[in-house]
Amino acid sequence: MVEVSTSILSVKKGEESKTFFALEASKTDYFHIDVMDGEFVEKNTYQTMLEYASYIRRISNAPLDVHLMVNDIKKAVDDYSAVEPNIITFHLEACKNEEEVFEMINYIKQYNCKVGISVKPNTKIEEVYKYLPYIHMCLVMTVEPGKGGQSYLSEMTEKVRTLKSYIDDNHLEVDIEVDGGINLRTAPEVKKAGANILVAGTAILNAVDYKVIIDELKCPIGDVSV
Ligand code: DX5
Ligand code: ZN
Repeated sequence: MVEVSTSILSVKKGEESKTFFALEASKTDYFHIDVMDGEFVEKNTYQTMLEYASYIRRISNAPLDVHLMVNDIKKAVDDYSAVEPNIITFHLEACKNEEEVFEMINYIKQYNCKVGISVKPNTKIEEVYKYLPYIHMCLVMTVEPGKGGQSYLSEMTEKVRTLKSYIDDNHLEVDIEVDGGINLRTAPEVKKAGANILVAGTAILNAVDYKVIIDELKCPIGDVSV
């Protein structure tokens, strides 16, 4: 079953509360919290996203899917554990070696939180293979991390397909999440390739009816959309 994680990065100023309530009512499967430190990526959303996540935690039981685009992973895990996320995902590229990756995996697990590893478009998918038995999700970035509203990088479809084959061939249980430029046009190909959690920001927040878009994004491949 495909799930949808709505990115709140591009929520309109002054409409945060209305948007979060409407997303809760639209039954988004997750709220995707994009944490940026202004170092790993240019933008800094660190404090804002913490405030938004705290607010959402108070008004919704939907799980929080925290995407860390930060260099200081431990600090962000400590800070964001306060909002009791369902999963915390960090970037492979923010770790200097294999030992540090395993250290971060265990550091997140001590908070009884699921663990995800994200890879940027230019990172070879093979680099994440050794960690898959120890994590719950691999987040394949389908845009360069750092901002919303970018176009899907079509060469990422093959990357998702390769990852899915490796997971299946090795009988692993790891979700594949895709993030960036996901909309009604790009969702079918990325689902067909094997992604089972779709992050969408612009495609949902710009819609008149969030539920219609979320249901369309989730609809099984090949189903005629209603
Ligand atoms: C980009 C973020 C994405 C982004 C998705 O760095 O990780 O989650 O907000 O937004 P859209 O769906 O607009 O590409
Ligand atoms: Zn994200």
